[in-house]
Amino acid sequence: MKVGKLNHVGIAVPSLEEAMETYRTLYGATDFVEPFDMPAQGVKVAFVNLPNSQIELIEPLGEDSPILNYLAKNPKGGQHHVCFEVDDVNQAIEDAIASGASIIGKPRIGAHGTLMIFVHPKNSNGVLVELMEPPKDH
Ligand code: CO
Repeated sequence: MKVGKLNHVGIAVPSLEEAMETYRTLYGATDFVEPFDMPAQGVKVAFVNLPNSQIELIEPLGEDSPILNYLAKNPKGGQHHVCFEVDDVNQAIEDAIASGASIIGKPRIGAHGTLMIFVHPKNSNGVLVELMEPPKDH
């Protein structure tokens, strides 16, 4: 596998609106992708657009949200994952498995509308790694 650009850093938050306000007032961010629901993933997502990358803000959606456990341990929120671009997610999965890593779930369409997968944090120094195919408008 060969990773490309850092696409985004995922941050779990209890409130998208409050987190966006923090990026607006404390850090002077002006460019956002407004919140939208991803019911199949059990999350609500917004993006802070930066000159070279994005911050993905993730709020739980529904009772079975995978983010709820994380927020139970980190009530104020925290860094949840980092996301690297790869040309071909299915190839990256094959390569990861061949390297002895564990992937989480099956590849699916992520918040950018392209194929993505998670690699288990135990294989990456405790960091949950998302691999995604680059958005078409890149
Ligand atoms: Co992500």
